[in-house]
Amino acid sequence: MKITVVGAGAVGATSADNIARKELCTELVLLDIKEGLAEGKAQDLMQTAALLGFDTYISGSTNDYSKTAGSKVVVITSGIPRKPGMTREELIGTNAGIVKGVCENILKYSPDAIIIVVSNPMDTMTYLAWKSTGLPKNKIIGMGGILDSSRFKYQLSMHLGCSPSDLNAVVIGGHGDTTMIPLIRMATWNSVPVSRFLTAEQQEKIVKDTMVGGATLTALLGTSAWYAPGAAVAALVEAIIRDEKKLYPCCVALEGEYGQQDICLGVPVIIGKNGWEKIIDFELNESEQAAFNKSADAVRSMNEVLKGLTV
Ligand code: LAC
Repeated sequence: MKITVVGAGAVGATSADNIARKELCTELVLLDIKEGLAEGKAQDLMQTAALLGFDTYISGSTNDYSKTAGSKVVVITSGIPRKPGMTREELIGTNAGIVKGVCENILKYSPDAIIIVVSNPMDTMTYLAWKSTGLPKNKIIGMGGILDSSRFKYQLSMHLGCSPSDLNAVVIGGHGDTTMIPLIRMATWNSVPVSRFLTAEQQEKIVKDTMVGGATLTALLGTSAWYAPGAAVAALVEAIIRDEKKLYPCCVALEGEYGQQDICLGVPVIIGKNGWEKIIDFELNESEQAAFNKSADAVRSMNEVLKGLTV
């Protein structure tokens, strides 16, 4: 069974690394447009196999999509990352054309693939992938909420002095500095609401720091992050490949759910072998729903920019 990761930059290569370590497929193809980059990273990763003890075969390809034929899952990380001070939305002009072209090439060789979109602005790129491929909506998944939720758990754990994996906390809405919604009201530490341990000020700071989690790293690193994005991609791929029925917040096409339609936005979904299988209604309160609607407005205006581009 084959998985393809398109884009051999830091996020793509780290995704491949995590997928291989988990042995989620027998064959993993890393593809990039830059001559030799995917081949080089694939070889470097293969040279960790004996040390780490995995049996996934990783190969690289410079833009030869025939190598990706028959992939069950395709992860799209292609495009430019943001630089310090940039928003994810500013990448739309460059990345829209790239993502659309990648989708076309992928479907030529893997018509049944489940597509995971990571390229930014992710919500709009997921919408583009959905609209341009005409694939059933369940096969298009934007990866943002899993990453943002992990960042949310990190922030909570630092304040609570606890293990991040003892926390249940979810971020819905857009994958943007101002559009994501960390649902702190519902966050729990081993089933106890975190609000029992945190002041209102602390909660506010945690939410704010979570929302700019990616931007904070971009300022420190000079480019966008890759370890947590790569781990989040692998968690999502694992849920599909192992048919785990995990409940993850992912960017999916909404058709009336959460009061929105004709948009791809982050909501809690069940992930299994068919892609995203079901949207779960978290019953937002009034202010959470208002934040969700505001997030939808911002993403929708980005989708309008997309429609004005000639890609
Ligand atoms: C981030 C990028 C992957 O949030 O959007 O780090």
